[in-house]
Amino acid sequence: MCGIFAYLNYNVTRERRYILEVLFNGLRRLEYRGYDSSGVAIDSDLTTVEGNRMGSPPYDAPPPLVFRQEGKIESLVGSVYSEVDAMDINLEEPFLIHAGIAHTRWATHGVPSPRNSHPQSSGAWDEFLVVHNGIITNYEVLKETLVRHGFTFDSETDTEVIPKLAKFVFDKARDGEGMVTFSQVVKEVMRQLEGAYALIFKSSHYPNELIACKRGSTLLLGVKELSGETSGTLFHDVKALTTNGKPKELFFSSDLCAIVEHTKNYLAVEDNEVVHIKDGSVSILKFDYGKEKPASVQRALSFLEMEVEQIKKGKYEHFMQKEIHEQPHSLTTSMRGRLKENGVNLGGLKDHLKSIRHSRRIIFIGCGTSYNAALAARPFVEELCGIPVTMELASDLLDRQGPVYREDTAVFVSQSGETADTLLALEYALENGALCVGITNTVGSTLARKTHCGVHINAGCEIGVASTKAYTSQIVVMAMMALAIGSDRISSQARREAIIACLSDLPSKVTDVLKLDGEMKDLAESLIGAESLLVFGRGYNYATALEGALKVKEVALMHSEGMLAGEMKHGPLALVDETLPIIVIATRDACFSKQQSVIQQLHARKGRLIVMCSKGDASAVCPSETCRAIEVPQVADCLQPVINIVPLQLLAYHLTVLRGYDVDQPRNLAKSVTTQ
Ligand code: UD1
Ligand code: M6R
Repeated sequence: MCGIFAYLNYNVTRERRYILEVLFNGLRRLEYRGYDSSGVAIDSDLTTVEGNRMGSPPYDAPPPLVFRQEGKIESLVGSVYSEVDAMDINLEEPFLIHAGIAHTRWATHGVPSPRNSHPQSSGAWDEFLVVHNGIITNYEVLKETLVRHGFTFDSETDTEVIPKLAKFVFDKARDGEGMVTFSQVVKEVMRQLEGAYALIFKSSHYPNELIACKRGSTLLLGVKELSGETSGTLFHDVKALTTNGKPKELFFSSDLCAIVEHTKNYLAVEDNEVVHIKDGSVSILKFDYGKEKPASVQRALSFLEMEVEQIKKGKYEHFMQKEIHEQPHSLTTSMRGRLKENGVNLGGLKDHLKSIRHSRRIIFIGCGTSYNAALAARPFVEELCGIPVTMELASDLLDRQGPVYREDTAVFVSQSGETADTLLALEYALENGALCVGITNTVGSTLARKTHCGVHINAGCEIGVASTKAYTSQIVVMAMMALAIGSDRISSQARREAIIACLSDLPSKVTDVLKLDGEMKDLAESLIGAESLLVFGRGYNYATALEGALKVKEVALMHSEGMLAGEMKHGPLALVDETLPIIVIATRDACFSKQQSVIQQLHARKGRLIVMCSKGDASAVCPSETCRAIEVPQVADCLQPVINIVPLQLLAYHLTVLRGYDVDQPRNLAKSVTTQ
């Protein structure tokens, strides 16, 4: 969904072209989140811009250049360079200090179009410019007030009230006391706004300054010192770092992926903080609405444990392909340092295991693939912990206002840690007094910060919109969580040891199953023209059926349903004919014989069968020569979903490429769904 990027260079000379390229590159890194338009704002030189506007600006600084475009980032890039050329703006002009802002928009209020894209403006001369992630819920009231004060609106966005409100506050303050600082203006604006947001302000009244603030949405500050002995150390005091006048580059983004190639020193801005960059120094004010005056806060920078390679495709054609193939590695990093010979060590849970063991039930809460991962974990969590587990799709829990109690442990599963539905369900569970545990891939995410405790899955940055490696790592982390919770149960010691042994071996088994790539491509070729695909699973692999079908529908844009095989004869059987392809998951576990009988029933109705079975079982499970088999390595039954999903991920990938669709950014979808 929407993405923010800002770049400020201080005491280091950067040409206008360089600044633009840094901003464009930041936007490219945000692309994977899903967007439909984009924009940037940089400084001009006064003379050229005066030539293109009437009169002169109400400030002394060079007025900004604002570019906004619908569609792909490359179309913004193309239009910026041609406009700059037409305006005769010097791209080689150097800036010792400069503040630029950029944004990718995923339409909520108003269609994708240049006028609805960000930066949004205060009006003539762009005195205040704002990029915004999130939604302003009281924008209509604010708009009415501003219209009464003579403001006119150009866009359909909720965002436009923000720069206009800033100008209103600025004009009023200046008419009264004469002087007002940038942070005073923003604080007053923030006081009026309701909703969830992350904002960056740029203003020609405050040249070379940037202000960032947030409530709800994620915002990060990256700090790169360009000289001096402190560069590269892990933790800095932001204030000490930034008052020394040394050359530096500062970056704001809603996503660490846009920062990692510049610096690993970052700070996650917290709710109600106003971060002000002026003269190369960073000051942070924290709002407490009970108090009149915001307090100045000092924060330490964190060190980002992410490698630049993670945000590049390397030898692969698509991120989804890369992420499927790197699962042996991502699973290894998810387990690193956590598996012991006779148990597991989850640093994030160890102080809470007792409370979890005493809870009356565990509620798994998530959306999409993360929900499916929790569903795959449910049987072994119940088995190893002996605690009832219920499943909740986050939006449905909220719609129903389903009961959540103090005695419950609510486990929130989310790759991004920023999914709006999941975060709202988290707030709800916190209000109801449940112990809230997070399972997320994103260090510093809202989920990681707001849960009482949790586990980072450490799968590495996932860029393809279709979640693949996060799914398998989520299952493995939940397996380790179940082992940790159940570690006081002597009766299941042998079972736990067997699972631990299997976990250690899992990456190499995933390497084996990835060898099916060519076979899955062949299968995809035979399915290109199919209108629909059914996937039947049960027991441990009910989740595999749902997740495999979700992959096919979201990237290959083919109708696909995952179904519980036990429900087949209660309705879906009516769909069966010679044309509809049906995948039946029949790997060896307690449900094996039931799945064999499902295969027979489908065969008796001339179903077009594809059977996923354990290695060596093909001839035993396939009822005819026309039935295709996908043979996979066998692992402990409860971990089999980690293996079984891989061929289905490969199938979805190849189907998408063969059908000519966008693999990494499927139609209408966003990587993190930050609106309800
Ligand atoms: C931590 C370090 C890891 C280090 C290891 C060595 C971090 C992020 N992780 O990993 O770099 O190698 O110690 O001892 O610094 N949490 C939540 N909610 C969530 C996820 C996590 O509250 O959704 C909390 C955990 O309860 C814990 C902290 O975040 O307090 C870090 O969690 P995690 O990274 O899983 O812990 P370790 O594996 O111990
Ligand atoms: O970031 P989250 O795990 O919370 O995201 C939840 C879903 O939006 C996500 O899994 C979605 O279903 C994916 N596109 C599936 O591939």
